[in-house]
Amino acid sequence: MGVVQETLDSCSDHQVRYIVINNNLNLLDSISDIQDQRDFELIAYRNIPPTMTSTKVETPAAESQEPQYNNVDLVHFEPRHYGDWRDEFHQNGCVVIKNVISPERAEYYRDKQIQWLKNFELGFDENDESTWTTEHLPVSFKGGMYFAYAAPHEKMAWEARTEPAVVEIFEKLWETKELISSFDGMNISMPRRKDLNWSPWPHCDQNQNRKGMQAVQGLLNYAPNGPNDGGLMLMKGSSKLFDEFFKHKRESFDHEDAPPPEIKYMDLFLFSEKDVNWFKEQGCELIKVNMEPGDFVLWDSRTMHYACLPEGDQIRHVQYICMTPRRFATPEALELKKQCFENFVGTTHWPHCNIRPTKEKPMRNGEVCPKDRSEPFEKPELTDTVLRLAGVKEY
Ligand SMILES: [Fe+2]
Repeated sequence: MGVVQETLDSCSDHQVRYIVINNNLNLLDSISDIQDQRDFELIAYRNIPPTMTSTKVETPAAESQEPQYNNVDLVHFEPRHYGDWRDEFHQNGCVVIKNVISPERAEYYRDKQIQWLKNFELGFDENDESTWTTEHLPVSFKGGMYFAYAAPHEKMAWEARTEPAVVEIFEKLWETKELISSFDGMNISMPRRKDLNWSPWPHCDQNQNRKGMQAVQGLLNYAPNGPNDGGLMLMKGSSKLFDEFFKHKRESFDHEDAPPPEIKYMDLFLFSEKDVNWFKEQGCELIKVNMEPGDFVLWDSRTMHYACLPEGDQIRHVQYICMTPRRFATPEALELKKQCFENFVGTTHWPHCNIRPTKEKPMRNGEVCPKDRSEPFEKPELTDTVLRLAGVKEY
């Protein structure tokens, strides 16, 4: 199979576009040219070989300004048999990968997350259900998702991202070792919360203008997660219907928890109940993903999904983890990532673009939470692996 690489580079005040086909440089007028090249596999977009000298096509710099959407898969996966979890993933757009870390290691992360909640000194006690309330917990989204308080850069979050078997999942999927990670949050959900009004939040994290599989999402599960334990709901098969659903422009549902309009999420689409039913009518199945401690679930970002609250006895413990190839990122995106990393700021699920720093402060009773903080309680160790996954250090 051949290799096609398109690159976008800046040269003084112009953008320069290249395409490499099997190491031979060619001009590229439009990305659609690539789609006709059935013999080739598109492996990179906007990768910039620093030493390349070539014929150039000059296009206005404005073309590269946000928002912009790539209209093809960043990696085109030809149908083939892998003989592992990738077969199921490519078939359904989602897969559970068993025993990625040991039960002991999962327990370590559970303890770390509980300690993190206690560090806020709001009276939370994991053994006293009466303290499982908003006033005793840091501010979260949908009853347990923590993105603020520098949580994405806690040592435990980086330890989870750098678990060798976790990195290996993304290396296998993308067929490269040169990956970057999102700075995503975690989920610690108490069951049977009486102080929450919770409603389903079916959404996908890919803009309707982006076509093809451009990102995946994943979570590492730390606690037993059965049918009553809440957790991840997935509309199995919905990623395959993404293009059909968005053939005509669709309006995102006005959900009660929708972000305010001034917060521009480039890659969030909220589905209405009617939309949910449309996917079911096409044969998709809404499934609750059950997992053991140490399991990992991976899904295509076009998949409809949401997290539901636990109803049993078990606290839900999860770290969201996403990685994509470094070559997908522009120099601008890498610079923005570096700033986020150095300032302990979180990002969206997307590792290589849509680096939208989560600047919003956690609000409590109409005011910024007095416990707001801009540094992790435990800072990550700056190993080469951490720095490379953060996008700060080159491979
Ligand atoms: Fe999501």
